[in-house]
Amino acid sequence: MLRVLFVGDIVGKQGRKALSNHLPFLQEKYNYDLLIVNGENSAHGKGITKKIYDFFVELGVDCITMGNHTFSKDNVYSFINEADKLIRPANLQPENFGKSCHVINFKGKKIGIFNICGTIFMENTTKSPFEAFEQLLDGFPCDIKIVDLHAEATSEKYAFMQYFKNEVQMIVGTHTHVQTADEAIFENCAFISDVGMTGPYNSVLGRDTDEVLSAMIDKIKTRYTISNEEAIFSAVLVDVDLEQQKAVSIERIQIRP
Ligand SMILES: [Fe+2]
Ligand SMILES: [Fe+2]
Repeated sequence: MLRVLFVGDIVGKQGRKALSNHLPFLQEKYNYDLLIVNGENSAHGKGITKKIYDFFVELGVDCITMGNHTFSKDNVYSFINEADKLIRPANLQPENFGKSCHVINFKGKKIGIFNICGTIFMENTTKSPFEAFEQLLDGFPCDIKIVDLHAEATSEKYAFMQYFKNEVQMIVGTHTHVQTADEAIFENCAFISDVGMTGPYNSVLGRDTDEVLSAMIDKIKTRYTISNEEAIFSAVLVDVDLEQQKAVSIERIQIRP
């Protein structure tokens, strides 16, 4: 059996704090084998820095997935090619930096973690998620496949799951920052359309409420400010039967401040 804890979009300082606060208790309670976090918002809401990548690795994170904010910090170009545990969506521009699959050997099996973007309501994408993932599968044959599908549209996430549910053991959505209550097993695959964020709870998806209201109501041009409110922690716990190459359970985890 392989037990995976996947933590949704870590937003800013409060999100990072919630992650480090909750992990010891979660490790004790669930005894997971593999820890994956989405880090696309970890550096002040947009992108990631080398320092934050190192922080995740020191916490014991096995793989950091990204999203449309992968390249929001210029600093990322200086370390992404050497960041062994970091993956970025395969079908996001620019395509030539970093990698989109991280392979881990576990109990004699090859576990592949993949990162793909949706294309509906998503900028700077290249090819369709279906095409992008099929190309990755050809390049990285693995026994167990786990996908972070970073996408806005629920329909696109379901279509992707329906297409790949026989050959993939875990497909989780990220990006919307709100956890959905649709976790289920379809054929061999554990699925949830969005894991939800680990970031400031009493906010607007992690952003400062006053700022978002000035932008939306008063049309004031604002800078990107992250809320200082305490964070909600959002994750899923998935068990995969390694011999049958099949997910057997998926459980939502949500810890509110
Ligand atoms: Fe996000
Ligand atoms: Fe995103």
